Amino acid sequence: MTTPALFTPFTLKDVTLRNRIAVPPMCQYSAVDGFTTDWHLSHYAGLARGGAGLVIVEATAVSPEGRISPGDTGLWNDEQAVGMAKIAAAIKAGGAVPGIQIAHAGRKASANRPWEGDDHIAEDDPRGWETLSPSAVPFGANLNKMPKAMTQADIERVQADFVAAAIRARDAGFQWLELHFAHGYLAQSFFSVHGNTRTDGYGGDAAGRGRFLLETLAAVREVWPANLPLTARFGVIEYDGRDEQTLAESIELVRAMREGGLDMLNVSVGFSTPDAKIPWGSAFLAPVSDRVKREAGLPVASSWGIDDPVAANRVVEEGQMDLVMVGRAMLANPHWPYQTALKLGLERPSWVLPAPYAHWLERYRVQSA
Ligand SMILES: Cc1cc2nc3c(=O)[nH]c(=O)nc-3n(C[C@H](O)[C@H](O)[C@H](O)COP(=O)(O)O)c2cc1C
Repeated sequence: MTTPALFTPFTLKDVTLRNRIAVPPMCQYSAVDGFTTDWHLSHYAGLARGGAGLVIVEATAVSPEGRISPGDTGLWNDEQAVGMAKIAAAIKAGGAVPGIQIAHAGRKASANRPWEGDDHIAEDDPRGWETLSPSAVPFGANLNKMPKAMTQADIERVQADFVAAAIRARDAGFQWLELHFAHGYLAQSFFSVHGNTRTDGYGGDAAGRGRFLLETLAAVREVWPANLPLTARFGVIEYDGRDEQTLAESIELVRAMREGGLDMLNVSVGFSTPDAKIPWGSAFLAPVSDRVKREAGLPVASSWGIDDPVAANRVVEEGQMDLVMVGRAMLANPHWPYQTALKLGLERPSWVLPAPYAHWLERYRVQSA
């Protein structure tokens, strides 16, 4: 039997993933002052043990004001990197490649945890802080706090923060770096007409709105090892009624990112406006990711609603995605890769898991068949 496409290895630069299943970054909102806790260590170790090829650690803030909530992880100081190094090692011990997403939440920062309101922390609450964005335009809906429009000095400082966090991630042992340029956070707000009304060189046409992203990428590329994948997550579409134009502009920017040293794109949604009409459904981004892959000419990963083994395998088989990002299904069952291997009829499904589990499950499966 030929190996299902989902379970073939994937090589990018000097890194080879054991299969095409990746765990996307998922905030745990469980850090203290940016420091990881035992929760993170056990959580990420479990995900890696479950058989995914790549585990990307959650959006980790490059500066205190870049956190979404007070519970976000950070890499703005060397002490925070100590806990992160343990997490990278634990992911490796589980047989997955350790990745991390570094982020600045922009105007969506200073928010309560999702299960504590998911809205901005009240102005008079000392847990909150001033937010930064390209322009003094709030997101709206539950996130109505007015951000400060960034000065040139703010822009340079945040870009330097991305570089410093990338160095710490590198030194902590991560082998895969994802820049968070998506989901209505800072970088996405620079690119989006919903967040950027600047009239200087960082606003206006698509080239101006893309400048912050390209500059940040270039600065990080300087310090991130040439033999390791540098990727970004970027919302290429907003579902706001101007999708064809946004997609065309996004793809143009992704081409420039590729030329600037980006190795892969994690294709996502912009989430720059609360008025978006998102067509939620199984693997709904697959055609978009396919188009970005063909037109921008670089490998792509994507997620959103891919929890069915057959659908996950199909998007890889048909070349719509090089990697499938499986989020909530992995929270529901970190051994999703094993269950998927069983369903897809992989010859030795339990060997998706590390040997201390695989050996016993292979026998158990045979005996109970
Ligand atoms: C608890 C949770 C936290 C998330 N945090 C992040 C994050 O830190 N960075 C990010 O880019 N996306 C984040 N997302 C989005 C996921 O990476 C993923 O794209 C989304 O869950 C859709 O994939 P799924 O349908 O397989 O769950 C988060 C999603 C969840 C459920």
